[in-house]
Amino acid sequence: MKTYVITGATSGIGNSLIREFSVCNKVFAGYRNSEKLESLKSISENIIPFFIDMSEPETIKLAAEFIKNRTEKIDTLINAAGCVVAGPVENLDITALKHQFEINTFSHLQFTQGLISHLSGGKIINISSMSSFGIFPFISPYCASKRALDILFNSLMLENKSDIRVVSIKPGAIATPLWEKSVKENEKFLKGNKTYEKEMKFMAENALKNGIKGLDVQKVVDAVVKADKMKNPKPSYTVGLDAKMSEILSKLPQDLLNFLIKEGLKARVK
Ligand SMILES: NC(=O)c1ccc[n+]([C@@H]2O[C@H](COP(=O)([O-])OP(=O)(O)OC[C@H]3O[C@@H](n4cnc5c(N)ncnc54)[C@H](OP(=O)(O)O)[C@@H]3O)[C@@H](O)[C@H]2O)c1
Repeated sequence: MKTYVITGATSGIGNSLIREFSVCNKVFAGYRNSEKLESLKSISENIIPFFIDMSEPETIKLAAEFIKNRTEKIDTLINAAGCVVAGPVENLDITALKHQFEINTFSHLQFTQGLISHLSGGKIINISSMSSFGIFPFISPYCASKRALDILFNSLMLENKSDIRVVSIKPGAIATPLWEKSVKENEKFLKGNKTYEKEMKFMAENALKNGIKGLDVQKVVDAVVKADKMKNPKPSYTVGLDAKMSEILSKLPQDLLNFLIKEGLKARVK
């Protein structure tokens, strides 16, 4: 039996990952909403739920202590919790931008730091995103938070002396509740913006479409399982054609890339 720690265990990708790994392993599963605790426990008796709110540093510290008091070693830490902050940069609410980094970047680093002593020779698998390639306008807070996550954790891997492997999984659009939640949570930025009304409408419609037509979540689970099994995984894997295309596009010169994105947006936003 190996030991896994997975945040964001109550929905979407994280929830599918705990279902996969808890069949034969001990899984510490992070939740923030106590109403979801019973359904989390009912998945398997190999699941040990722990409370963590990624926006509350004190709960992150307590969560790491809770885990370290119950295991001597963690084989794989999977940082999956996340949310999306969207909107045009010129109107960005700075508090919302800080919140984005708090949930998608800083909290994962704080949690990982808290567990690092138990991760020697183990793996950290971050559920990053194709957004980390930084090519999507109007969701730049999300893109920047994922890019920062990737940069910080890649440095962690380069620097650490206890052979911890870090893998960034970069999915494209996956059919999970994230998209619907993001439209709801960003309504105040998406609605009532006269300058970018059409773009915001397009973004919301596209997000809702992704929530239904995105790839099956199992594709991400398969990529994580594969990377987890490998002795020498690559530092980064894309999941889905859209993610692969984003990676290729991101390698173009910035002026050419910007031209293509602007023209693409013009053609799609009516
Ligand atoms: N879906 C996609 O297309 C896609 C693509 C690329 C990358 N990703 C990334 O994959 C990860 C999982 O996303 P998902 O699609 O599975 O979304 P999801 O279904 O909305 O799941 C997000 C998970 O994170 C938890 N979470 C959110 N804010 C939190 C907070 N402040 N404290 C503690 N937990 C919190 C949620 O808890 P609740 O259940 O309480 O809300 C939920 O368990 C995210 O990092 C996301 O950026 C998703």
